[in-house]
Amino acid sequence: MSNDKSSLRPVRFGVIGTGGMGGRHARNLTNEVAAAQVVALADVDEARLQAVAAACGAAHTFADAAELIRHPDVEAVLVAAPDRFHAALTAACIEAGKPVLCEKPLALSAAEALRIVEAEVAGGRRLVQVGLMREYDPAHLRVKQIMDSGALGKALAFHGTHINGGTLSWRTVEDVVTNSAVHDLHSARWLMGDEIVRVFASYVPYSADRPDTARLMLIQLQFRGGAVGRIECNMEAGYGYEVDVKLTGERGSAETNSLRSAVVRHQNQRGQWVEEDWLQRFDTAYIDEVRAWIRSVQLGVADGPSAWDGFASMLVADACIASARSGQPVDVAMPEMADIYRRA
Ligand SMILES: NC(=O)c1ccc[n+]([C@@H]2O[C@H](COP(=O)([O-])OP(=O)(O)OC[C@H]3O[C@@H](n4cnc5c(N)ncnc54)[C@H](O)[C@@H]3O)[C@@H](O)[C@H]2O)c1
Repeated sequence: MSNDKSSLRPVRFGVIGTGGMGGRHARNLTNEVAAAQVVALADVDEARLQAVAAACGAAHTFADAAELIRHPDVEAVLVAAPDRFHAALTAACIEAGKPVLCEKPLALSAAEALRIVEAEVAGGRRLVQVGLMREYDPAHLRVKQIMDSGALGKALAFHGTHINGGTLSWRTVEDVVTNSAVHDLHSARWLMGDEIVRVFASYVPYSADRPDTARLMLIQLQFRGGAVGRIECNMEAGYGYEVDVKLTGERGSAETNSLRSAVVRHQNQRGQWVEEDWLQRFDTAYIDEVRAWIRSVQLGVADGPSAWDGFASMLVADACIASARSGQPVDVAMPEMADIYRRA
């Protein structure tokens, strides 16, 4: 384990939602980031709340997230409550003037996300980072670096695969797009360095009499600069979890490889462990994400995926849902980005 030995003073922050993701973030911040101090937690589930509080040594626990945001000991907030609460909690953090790392998606629709962007722009500075953490995955970063270097020429195509082992309940088209594919839509925008202007989404429902559900979705993309793309989002592959991208350039291609474990040859078989879930596949990315966030809070300069990225990915997500419903390609009208979101 490596720790961030920052000379700047520690950041006291609170985590809202202490389930799978919030619990992981709270533990990562406690164990992996010396510059972070978990002082408060909020959850409506008292047992989870107390278990994570004991593991992190958090002094304050709340059933009401608004109390955590208001508390004077809390300098910054990490939101890991369910998706439907993200927009309101992030808006409350902006109103309180506190930096916030909000798990994806920023909101459940582009209209809701735009209100966050407008509130942040009105305040004149970035306070929001969105948990689109593939930007911190070493393999994704390597692909980004090689494409941005120009060595492979102009990017011509984006290929993304997002394979989930299985799910406890059937998921709706809306949920698959806003909760899962939103990661892939952001990866496409970020890695291609271009905006998506048109989508065509088709899907296979869990059963023919439940067309509101999507077991597997294919999304075709058209980028502003002329490149094309394709995302496969499989909710129930039945064997494990894999997320990969491949970018095809004019002079070569770059791709990630989710199969990170040892290759074993035994009894006429060649095998490799497939990760169980996102917590395994992106273990390093989650640590690097919160470490970078705490550093940005210390420096008072937000970076990483922004509220604008959260909004833009939701705008494309809304178009994917409309396309899946209508069976037609749908255009995406991306507005001009406000200056506070321009990255160095
Ligand atoms: N970035 C990623 O890779 C990634 C991966 C998984 C989940 N997520 C996101 O993280 C968030 C949490 O997902 P999860 O898998 O941890 O879910 P979870 O169900 O395990 O945890 C959610 C927690 O929030 C609590 N909660 C519910 N309502 C609340 C409220 N009003 N105030 C405070 N707490 C409340 C629940 O009791 C639960 O403990 C979701 O938004 C999800 O989309 C992101």
